[in-house]
Amino acid sequence: MSDQALDWIVNALRENRTQNDQQLVWCTDENALNGLPNLQHANLQVITNRWDIAEQAKNRQLQVQFSDFNFRHQGDCTLDGFFYRVSKEKPLVHHLLNQAWRCLKTGGELWVSGFKNDGTKTYIEKIAKLLGCEKSIKKNGQVYSAQLIKHAPFDAQQQLDANDYDLVRPIVPESGLNLVSKPGLFGWNKIDAGSALLIQQLDSVFANRPAPQTCLDLGCGYGYLTVAAAKQTVTAGITNWILTDNNAAALQIAAENLRINQINGEVIGADAGSGIHAKADLLLCNPPFHQGFSVDGDLTDKFLANASRLLAPNGIAVFVVNQFIPLERKAAPLFRQVKTLIDNGSFKVISLSQ
Ligand SMILES: C[S@@+](CC[C@H](N)C(=O)[O-])C[C@H]1O[C@@H](n2cnc3c(N)ncnc32)[C@H](O)[C@@H]1O
Repeated sequence: MSDQALDWIVNALRENRTQNDQQLVWCTDENALNGLPNLQHANLQVITNRWDIAEQAKNRQLQVQFSDFNFRHQGDCTLDGFFYRVSKEKPLVHHLLNQAWRCLKTGGELWVSGFKNDGTKTYIEKIAKLLGCEKSIKKNGQVYSAQLIKHAPFDAQQQLDANDYDLVRPIVPESGLNLVSKPGLFGWNKIDAGSALLIQQLDSVFANRPAPQTCLDLGCGYGYLTVAAAKQTVTAGITNWILTDNNAAALQIAAENLRINQINGEVIGADAGSGIHAKADLLLCNPPFHQGFSVDGDLTDKFLANASRLLAPNGIAVFVVNQFIPLERKAAPLFRQVKTLIDNGSFKVISLSQ
């Protein structure tokens, strides 16, 4: 499936390829559904918060920074071009538009694109005003795009509200859990209702099974499933907690939540667990079903295939999904036992074992 807003950015990058002395940055995130497009660029820096895109960029010898869009080391007025297909989360969009304004040279260009329902027109209007440039928005179907030139110097007082994008802060104190988080990762300031339902099933999962020693949290986000599971008596014997995600902010914050909760574990960047070789007695997963703006069924398949590969012979995987995801059907060829533990009309928790 192609994303026309992203295609517009990629075409703009291709058109800018010939001016070799220019410093260009392309920020790309969850919207790159089909992975990294084929680009040859000597002086382009790809900045991505996705581990799989960063790996693809490295393999193609592109300059790449895998980070939570951390611009601390990028000087003011140093860039000639900034390319960006708007993200799903407003704080991240504002953060990146602010960084474009700060880091572009006077006369440098911001190329920005996105769908109507991403709020793109409003984003373009706001940043055009701050850059001191004419807004000339191109509309092609549902896609809004603009090439904006920086005239006005950056002013921190006027920048767009990015909800302190870089600030790591305590969240949900009422949960009784010690958790920190930040914008830029899935449901960053709340506990997912499906994940909470999964945790409530853990006691019954281990009623007739030996206690687990190794736990893998697949698509860990800020680490809720691990931190909450570590509080349960059934997990008292776990000596090795492994957490993995594709998202840079998730990896950073999950590691921080392990540290502040004194949980012995490691956090590994991976695409749906690919490349990990642990064998888990317990595997916890609330898989993503939205990637960027589109529903991606293949991703669920990838999570299930890796769960099956990473489970110890007597291990058990516990998944939670939205009620309409046919996880049982997708899991059936991969696992001997597929059992729905609870279905509350919104979410279902399913155990999988061999
Ligand atoms: C529904 S969230 C669950 C987060 C967390 N486990 C929780 O329960 O709050 C899904 C997670 O999968 C991650 N994710 C999305 N695509 C991924 C991929 N290809 N590989 C690994 N993780 C991915 C997202 O970054 C997100 O943290």
